[in-house]
Amino acid sequence: MRSFKVPHVCTALFLVMLFLPITGTSKQNIPRLKLSYKDLLLSNSCIPFLGSAEGLDFRTLLLDEERGRLLIGAKDHIFLLDLVDLNKNVKKIYWPAAKEKVEVCKLAGKDVQTECANFIRVLQPYNRTHVYVCGTGAFHPICGYIELGIHKEEIVFRLDTQNLESGRLKCPFDPQQPFASVMTDEYLYAGTASDFLGKDTALTRSLGPSHDHHYIRTDISEHYWLNGAKFIGTYPIPDTYNPDDDKIYFFFREISQDSSTSDKAILSRVGRICKNDMGGQRSLINKWTTFLKARLVCSIPGAEGADTHFDELQDIFLLSTRDERNPLVYGVFTTTSSVFKGSAVCVYSMADIRAVFNGPYAHKESVDHRWVQYEGRIPYPRPGTCPSKTYDPLIKSTRDFPDDVISFIKRHPVMYKSVYPKSGGPVFTRINVDYRLTQIVVDHVMAEDGQYDVLFLGTDVGTVLKVVSIAKEKWTMEEVVLEELQIFKQQLYIGSKDGLVQLSLHRCHTYGKACADCCLARDPYCAWDGNSCSRYAPTSKRRARRQDVKYGDPVTQCWDMEESITHETADEKVIFGIEFNSTFLECIPKSQQASIRWYIQRSGEEHREELKADERIIKTDYGLLIRSLQRKDAGAYYCKAEEHTFVHTVVKLNVNVIENGHMESTQKTEDEEGRTRDLLTESRLRYKDYIQLVSSPSFSLDEYCEQMWHREKRRQRNKGGAKWKHVQEMKKKRNRRHHESASGPHARPTST
Ligand SMILES: *[C@@H]1O[C@H](CO)[C@@H](O)[C@H](O)[C@H]1NC(C)=O
Ligand SMILES: *[C@@H]1O[C@H](CO)[C@@H](O)[C@H](O)[C@H]1NC(C)=O
Repeated sequence: MRSFKVPHVCTALFLVMLFLPITGTSKQNIPRLKLSYKDLLLSNSCIPFLGSAEGLDFRTLLLDEERGRLLIGAKDHIFLLDLVDLNKNVKKIYWPAAKEKVEVCKLAGKDVQTECANFIRVLQPYNRTHVYVCGTGAFHPICGYIELGIHKEEIVFRLDTQNLESGRLKCPFDPQQPFASVMTDEYLYAGTASDFLGKDTALTRSLGPSHDHHYIRTDISEHYWLNGAKFIGTYPIPDTYNPDDDKIYFFFREISQDSSTSDKAILSRVGRICKNDMGGQRSLINKWTTFLKARLVCSIPGAEGADTHFDELQDIFLLSTRDERNPLVYGVFTTTSSVFKGSAVCVYSMADIRAVFNGPYAHKESVDHRWVQYEGRIPYPRPGTCPSKTYDPLIKSTRDFPDDVISFIKRHPVMYKSVYPKSGGPVFTRINVDYRLTQIVVDHVMAEDGQYDVLFLGTDVGTVLKVVSIAKEKWTMEEVVLEELQIFKQQLYIGSKDGLVQLSLHRCHTYGKACADCCLARDPYCAWDGNSCSRYAPTSKRRARRQDVKYGDPVTQCWDMEESITHETADEKVIFGIEFNSTFLECIPKSQQASIRWYIQRSGEEHREELKADERIIKTDYGLLIRSLQRKDAGAYYCKAEEHTFVHTVVKLNVNVIENGHMESTQKTEDEEGRTRDLLTESRLRYKDYIQLVSSPSFSLDEYCEQMWHREKRRQRNKGGAKWKHVQEMKKKRNRRHHESASGPHARPTST
């Protein structure tokens, strides 16, 4: 038996539901729903991998969809989990770095815990029976094969320790370095640093079918090729129907080589090489001969060319479409500026990327010159095109390229034009918030009123934003610390420094039972089914489902609206306040984006009026604070939340004022004058208490009010005040009524 500690992830993870309304209100940047990790566990939509408790830096994930397994690369360990139940039949391989490598690593001044260990960074499916694995090996990268399969009904999960090989140029030395790799046709493509210091970076191809081990890389002596590149993603993408044209596209950021700017600006890039590149014959031997790169721009256009640039590529996600040659390219970028913190998501089309690679080359006369458009003669075949017998029987391989093609590509690997986002600018930005976006996963969802791309964005503070792009500037969101995200069968796998969790993409029931709540959420995964807010499937009976992702307007969608407005189905509470004392009327709407208005129907009056705040009556985010309660304050208080076009009463509070005179008559012994003075200071003190509460959200107002009530009760206990007994009885009755209404039917069925 294994005993599990409470996993660290419990405190490290945090999920928030964000929703941005159409107009630019101040509430725009606030998540509509904020779900803590505890909320997620309670709603059964989040399952932590309990082995995470050891804090092993879970950062490399490999899904084996066919066998329903998940492989996780962690510090000195590789885990094999069952997707049906992450915590059942867990298998693991312990693979630490060699002792002498750890010693050398320590002597080099590296950290024992966070650097001098074997951090698994490569997990790639090699063939039907084996997975290729590499680890940093305490700054001495090392690779090998894991056998994965079933033998006599037993799961085989074993590292072949007899056939380990060097991981140089396949895996980073430094566990913190960004790094990208992909395995295709048994070849491993990797973009990484090639040495201990991490200065020389390269894009390499290694391994391959056993008859054809052929190692190839970027040319280190050609400094226009890569300059301190940090690789973010590599993907095999076919370009045409001709397999000879198949390319590997890679995304990275690097230091700009434009001498016009003295500072070392960072630029984001897309690059590509041909799969069938074998290197040159006389020059560029075992180097790429088809290497090209172009700038990826993600900026908000400003007046007179004063654009806001997001230059540092952080993550890339390829959303596949029906055409495998044309996935949508989603990129997360951050600003390099030290002055302002911003992140943006930009989307690119492969057609635009290809157009730039088919466009003009950039030319640099010498190191001191700027990049200009190359105007000279372009050799044949056009540098960067893949060799193919179909096009030219004389050029069967890159070794057949004429010398002028080879020397051209050495000096002109950069395209002159840049790749701009599809919509001209970012599809989502976060500016001046105290976190940055670092990760992206996108899911394409069919909803009742259209198709939506839902973005899951990881941040550097350990939250995940769930965002849906609606028409142009309209968005819905959800905010969990992660290093890698993956989507598989409606689940999101989030690996982080502290652990791994499996998270469902939707939690429809958390929006509330009412049609309006479901509709306001604008979550394409959810629709109101006549009874509750539940998972929407395009194939299910259409007519009964209510959903409005585009506008989020419950008035047009929901039949229970009228009733909820006229009959005030809201919570109803009775509050007793003491004259001259402060009273707090709590009202917290479920949605953080709702704006609150208070209405009062004073005792004996027929009409409600909107309550106006003054120095005695203060509106706070948690409710209404009435200082020095007066008799005329008695009445019914309605707290109404307004969101989009939808207004509903969150709570109705019947405030009764216990007159001070009645209190005093039971306290004959007290000195009248001193008491009144105490009262005033007390109420002021209490106001201070309250302010403290608001700034420390761990203490709830409920608790506060409860405490105050008990204090009051204690004080009065020995005085035998008839009034108090009455109050307690009332309170009991009220509780009973509450239970009844809570268990009663809430939503009513509708028909169309
Ligand atoms: C897969 O690759 C491994 C390692 O090279 C080899 O031992 C094994 O036989 C291969 N399996 C198949 C099915 O080709
Ligand atoms: C107001 O509250 C304070 C603290 O509980 C209490 O001492 C005081 O008697 C209250 N005022 C009245 C009028 O009851």
